[in-house]
Amino acid sequence: MVDIAERFVDLPAGIKPFLAAPPPDVIRWTVGEPGFDTPQPIIDAAIKSLKEGNTKYTRSEGSIDLCTASANRLNLRYGIPATPESIIITPGAKQGLLYTFMVTCEPGDEVILLAPAWPSYDIQCRMLDLTPIHVPVNKNNFHPNLELIESSITSKTKAIVVNSPNNPTGAVYTPPEIKSLLDIAIKYDLWLISDEIYARLNWTDWEHLSPASLEGGSERTIVVTGWSKSFAMTGWRIGVVWGPDNVMKAMGKLQANACSHIPSFLMDAAEGALDEGIENYVSKFKESYVKRRKILMDGIASINGLSMPEPEGAFYGFVDISETGMDSTTFATRALNEAKVQLIPGGLIAEGEGFVRISYACDEETLHEGLKRIGDWLNSNNL
Ligand SMILES: Cc1ncc(COP(=O)(O)O)c(C=O)c1O
Repeated sequence: MVDIAERFVDLPAGIKPFLAAPPPDVIRWTVGEPGFDTPQPIIDAAIKSLKEGNTKYTRSEGSIDLCTASANRLNLRYGIPATPESIIITPGAKQGLLYTFMVTCEPGDEVILLAPAWPSYDIQCRMLDLTPIHVPVNKNNFHPNLELIESSITSKTKAIVVNSPNNPTGAVYTPPEIKSLLDIAIKYDLWLISDEIYARLNWTDWEHLSPASLEGGSERTIVVTGWSKSFAMTGWRIGVVWGPDNVMKAMGKLQANACSHIPSFLMDAAEGALDEGIENYVSKFKESYVKRRKILMDGIASINGLSMPEPEGAFYGFVDISETGMDSTTFATRALNEAKVQLIPGGLIAEGEGFVRISYACDEETLHEGLKRIGDWLNSNNL
């Protein structure tokens, strides 16, 4: 057999093995997607666009109307100096991130990840022959350890990935932390890759802050975000990237030759999602998450042996299971088989051992039932 490229031979699987659909009697706390249907007006906009015949090749970066609406959104909501020409609509934020690494880094470059980090960053880096450097965050609150980040920078470092609100930890970095991360990037002349996919899901007293909106930020920050999490549109695969001109020019060529563009009729739906009318749906989603987060926090606090730093954003709780004496894979495997609850072992993510990730995007009943099952299971085993 002819060999595949060496760097793909032992590529880690990330958390994929624990994302497989479990039997129906299992509570599924693993998938990172909103437990809501896509708002009907967005679906209607896609159908209308299809019926109008938007099924042909079109502008590779995304329709100018969608790019304009996206630029306005980034500008007005987050103070990012976006223009329609500096926007690219990608097949999900995930592909936008891959493009970003491709355009900003050379093989052999080091990319700093604030660990535990969303596993796809690590895998995408490896796919491109980049070296992911996992710099641990503070374990008590999952916020960045700025001194450690600075001391991890070498002559090969090219970028720092910032993901706030964070998957898997739920941390939302404070404005001074975002500012300090930017200061480090400026001091060492690095790219700041800012994954802001969960920006709308922030439960803290401080507003989401994009480093691209700060002085000195717009020339070195690439903002990657998308429709999946805010609008319950994970399966639609629509993301957006904004960055400095040189980055976006290169990325335009990349997308044109990699996938041409996202499906033409989905561009109208994505534009429809940015309509003010959709905000009612988003507010309802957010109200539900706030309730579910409280249920999770109260539930975890009532179970002996478990603890959890306050989840500040996104829809994840990262639960410390170290007092149970089990490693996270044993915990998750036994929870699945004995308590019939599926969760993600933190040990599959660099610097995540001792924790399991729970997605509280599921409905309240599922959340209550899962907590009861985990509590009963741990109690009955004197764990
Ligand atoms: C931190 C983070 N970034 C990016 C993505 C990818 O989003 P999309 O569905 O737009 O590709 C996810 C999805 O889980 C995520 O958790």
